[in-house]
Amino acid sequence: MDNAAILKKMQQDWDARARENARYYVATGKQDWTDQEFFESGDRTVSEEVLTDMINICQGREPGQMRVLEIGCGAGRVTRALSKVFGQVHGVDVSGEMVARARRALEDRPNAFVYQNDGATLNILPEGVEFDFAFSTIVFQHIPSREVIENYVREVQKRLKAGSLFKFQVQGDSTLTTSPDDTWLGAPFSDQQAVEMALRCGFEPRYRHGAGEQYFWLWYFKK
Ligand SMILES: C[S@@+](CC[C@H](N)C(=O)[O-])C[C@H]1O[C@@H](n2cnc3c(N)ncnc32)[C@H](O)[C@@H]1O
Repeated sequence: MDNAAILKKMQQDWDARARENARYYVATGKQDWTDQEFFESGDRTVSEEVLTDMINICQGREPGQMRVLEIGCGAGRVTRALSKVFGQVHGVDVSGEMVARARRALEDRPNAFVYQNDGATLNILPEGVEFDFAFSTIVFQHIPSREVIENYVREVQKRLKAGSLFKFQVQGDSTLTTSPDDTWLGAPFSDQQAVEMALRCGFEPRYRHGAGEQYFWLWYFKK
């Protein structure tokens, strides 16, 4: 399966999941999320992964002055929470159906912007816009191609300000059997693969947490 076919499959599969039950496929903890529960779960993600880590994320900058990029914004669950902390949030997602739901969820957040992208690049973002922090959770764990994930890392590197952090989660369980046409179970990374990818893409892989597990978190600082 070539990359163009994988991108098309990701878009089709995630559109179908969004139509069936977007919130369940975004966060499988519940089949029938209420608005309040769904967005509170996004607040929890931001409390746990962002607010506990503001020294690395802000590096002395005021959160209200920072522009944040989110890869795989889904139905706006985390985007909404990020928009309450930072000056601007820009989210991209391969699924137009997810993006439509995120736009509705963010109607009252004038500092949040979402775009449907091609599943591998950030070409859709306005030219010249740079970011102070980039974040992604439970997205790369679904991307079946390491090449596509690495392409995102390279694209994020181009858009981040020097020294800034890309904090993201990948699948760390290398015992899983994945397949290029399975858009649910993403390509796993070993600790060494995570380090090598950072170095190839112009990042310092300063911290890693959860190697060997589903939630393998990487802190890549732009050199
Ligand atoms: C499990 S949901 C998580 C959404 C969001 N990160 C959250 O935590 O609420 C995964 C999202 O990743 C998106 N996605 C999957 N593959 C993608 C890709 N190649 N590029 C951009 N988004 C992608 C899906 O459309 C879906 O909205």
